Amino acid sequence: MPRDILQTLKSEHDDLRKLFKDMEGTTDRARKTRGEILKDIEAGLIPHAKWEELVFYPAFKQRADREGLKTHAEAVQEHRAVELTVLPDLKGKPTDSVEFAGSAKVLGEFVDHHAGEEEKTMFKMARKLFSAEELAEFDEQYETWKTTPEAAREMTKALKQPSPAPVGQ
Ligand SMILES: [Fe+2]
Ligand SMILES: [Fe+2]
Repeated sequence: MPRDILQTLKSEHDDLRKLFKDMEGTTDRARKTRGEILKDIEAGLIPHAKWEELVFYPAFKQRADREGLKTHAEAVQEHRAVELTVLPDLKGKPTDSVEFAGSAKVLGEFVDHHAGEEEKTMFKMARKLFSAEELAEFDEQYETWKTTPEAAREMTKALKQPSPAPVGQ
C-alpha cells in the first residue's frame, strides 16, 4: 500500500484514544502508571499536533475553500485550547488525585472530539485537495521531521510549559 499521511495521522489518533482508555482504567493509587501513561500521551500528542500546525494545516489552508477555512480555524482553536489550558491543567495536578482523573478524562474527550472532526471533515476534504503522491510525500516528510532538532525543540518547549493556576483555585 502506498504511504498516506492521512492514514498515519488517523492511526496516531487511535493510539492516543487507546492511551486515554488505559488512563481511564487506572485508580487514584496508580501514581506511577498514570505518570507513565501521561508521558506516552505527550510523546504521541505533541509531535503530531506540532507537525499538523507547522506543515499540514498551512498546506491545507492554502487550498481550502470557505468551508475548509472554517474547519481549519476550528482545528487551530482546538489545538490552542489543549496546549494552553487542558493539558497544562492536567499536568498541574498530582497523579494520585481524583482531580487528575477528571482532567485526564476532559483531555481525552477533547482529543477524541478533535481527532474525530479531523477524520470526518478535514481529512476528507484533504483527500480531494491533495493527490495521492502529495499525501505520500507528506507521510515521508512527517517521519523525517520527527527525528529533527526542530521536533526535539518543540517537544522540550511543550514539556516545559508552565502550568497556569487551574480554574476555580
Ligand atoms: Fe489536530
Ligand atoms: Fe490529528
